[in-house]
Amino acid sequence: MKDTNRNTALALSCLTAAIVVLSASVSVFAAPVPMAGTGLFRVEHRPGPVLKDSCFECHSVIEGTSVVFKDDVHYYHAISCADCHGGDPKEDDQNLSMSAKRGFKTRVTRQATPGYCGRCHKNASFMRKFNPNLRLDQLALYKTSVHAKRLAAGHAGSAECVDCHGVHNIRAVSDPLSPAHPQHVTETCAKCHAATADLFRKSPHGRAFTSKEMPGCTACHASHATRPANRAMLTGKHGVCTDCHDAGSAGEKAAAEIARLLASLETTARGSKEALARVRVAVHTFDVAAIKRAAEPAMAEGKPGRK
Ligand code: HEC
Ligand code: HEC
Ligand code: HEC
Ligand code: HEC
Ligand code: HEC
Ligand code: HEC
Ligand code: HEC
Repeated sequence: MKDTNRNTALALSCLTAAIVVLSASVSVFAAPVPMAGTGLFRVEHRPGPVLKDSCFECHSVIEGTSVVFKDDVHYYHAISCADCHGGDPKEDDQNLSMSAKRGFKTRVTRQATPGYCGRCHKNASFMRKFNPNLRLDQLALYKTSVHAKRLAAGHAGSAECVDCHGVHNIRAVSDPLSPAHPQHVTETCAKCHAATADLFRKSPHGRAFTSKEMPGCTACHASHATRPANRAMLTGKHGVCTDCHDAGSAGEKAAAEIARLLASLETTARGSKEALARVRVAVHTFDVAAIKRAAEPAMAEGKPGRK
């Protein structure tokens, strides 16, 4: 018994030594640390012998940007300020370090951010060095999305990368604290689609998806290639409902009824645009009776003799 203990202790100390050697050879060493009482963990970053980083050093003492950056997946991979913002991290002087001559780019606009992030994320030979399993198509998919098109059309309130992943505190999507983690997708979309999210949460899907750790909104709308929504999502070739509901099930029947209701509202052009928009939000109750109730004003508005 004692011998086994000694062997285990020996094996452990060898392992520790191996880890120390390993951590000295890579720039950063991280270990998941449980957060008391939450069931969550956080990754503790310990910079190893990293290169000079004047941006980080100076910004640590001003404003506190770098304090937040310590939780960032990029920081963990020793990708730092200058890798996104340009400039010279070896230069201590603020004016030299942040000069256009050294590649520093001023203010990042919301329209420019996707290209900024995509520069690395679509680059296979670069990304494979860090993680061979990470997909490389986020920017390509995002460009096809309704969000990208609205942003390009000048709607600054549309969604781009940092709205769903944060900035300076970007985390792996498997990290339970990431806003893109399945458990947080709904609240992330809710920042801009609050009424829709309210109904979704109270719906049978809200409860079922949460208990099954399924993402909310993106189960039907995708995360990067979000398309304009329409009733083709309910039935037929582009229907999403039958991904999970068998033919003849309550879910499939509801889908068919909701599609019929929307079709009759659209084709007869009854009701104002606003009234129709309210019905489309009400779809997220996935409750035929509730959607019919939401459709009543739209139906009534279109009736002759009513003002
Ligand atoms: C010696 C200190 C110092 C160094 C070194 C430094 N900065 Fe700054 N940085 C500042 C100060 C001060 C500001 C202005 C803050 C303000 O206006 O609120 C600033 C502003 C910025 C801004 C905002 C610019 C804008 O247009 O609004 C970014 C981005 C930035 N720094 C990134 C970097 C990067 C990247 C590096 C390294 C290449 C770097 N900084 C090096 C002190 C420094
Ligand atoms: C992964 C890329 C990335 C890294 C790494 C990064 N930033 Fe940023 N930073 C951005 C983006 C994108 C924005 C614009 C955020 C927005 O739209 O809200 C930004 C905004 C800023 C701003 C506000 C200026 C502005 O344009 O409004 C400052 C200051 C800044 N960053 C400093 C830093 C510092 C200091 C570091 C390193 C500790 C750093 N950043 C690391 C991507 C990055
Ligand atoms: C509307 C919200 C939203 C926007 C905008 C968005 N993402 Fe995502 N992203 C997500 C969600 C949700 C996931 C997790 C599910 C998945 O992988 O599709 C994710 C996953 C990722 C991943 C991990 C992929 C993997 O293989 O595990 C990366 C990297 C990423 N996004 C980068 C980006 C970049 C770069 C942009 C901008 C071009 C962007 N995202 C825009 C919501 C968004
Ligand atoms: C300088 C190159 C570079 C830039 C610019 C960059 N990234 Fe990354 N990003 C990486 C690398 C490398 C990783 C680590 C890959 C890994 O280990 O999974 C990463 C990881 C991520 C992850 C975590 C993926 C996962 O494992 O779930 C997300 C999300 C992400 N980046 C989003 C962004 C966003 C949003 C931007 C723009 C604000 C951005 N990145 C800009 C290189 C970059
Ligand atoms: C089970 C599938 C499903 C889920 C989950 C889902 N939606 Fe939808 N969504 C639909 C369908 C179907 C429509 C199309 C209604 C129409 O336009 O005919 C739609 C329409 C929309 C629209 C356009 C109408 C409106 O509400 O303004 C938005 C925006 C939207 N969804 C966002 C979300 C968000 C945000 C979430 C999560 C809170 C979500 N959806 C969850 C199926 C879904
Ligand atoms: C930063 C704000 C913001 C965030 C975050 C956001 N969206 Fe959007 N979304 C918009 C805007 C703005 C539009 C365009 C609305 C319009 O054209 O009237 C839009 C449009 C849509 C549409 C198309 C609606 C239609 O009428 O066809 C869908 C579907 C959608 N978003 C789903 C999502 C989902 C799912 C998420 C989370 C993964 C999300 N959005 C996160 C702002 C956002
Ligand atoms: C990602 C899988 C998934 C998709 C896609 C999906 N559902 Fe569901 N749906 C579920 C789950 C899980 C439940 C809960 C079933 C339970 O509690 O037994 C559910 C429940 C329902 C219910 C309540 C009745 C029942 O079967 O419990 C209705 C109605 C419903 N869904 C309609 C729809 C409609 C309409 C769509 C398409 C717009 C859709 N669903 C798309 C997974 C999904």
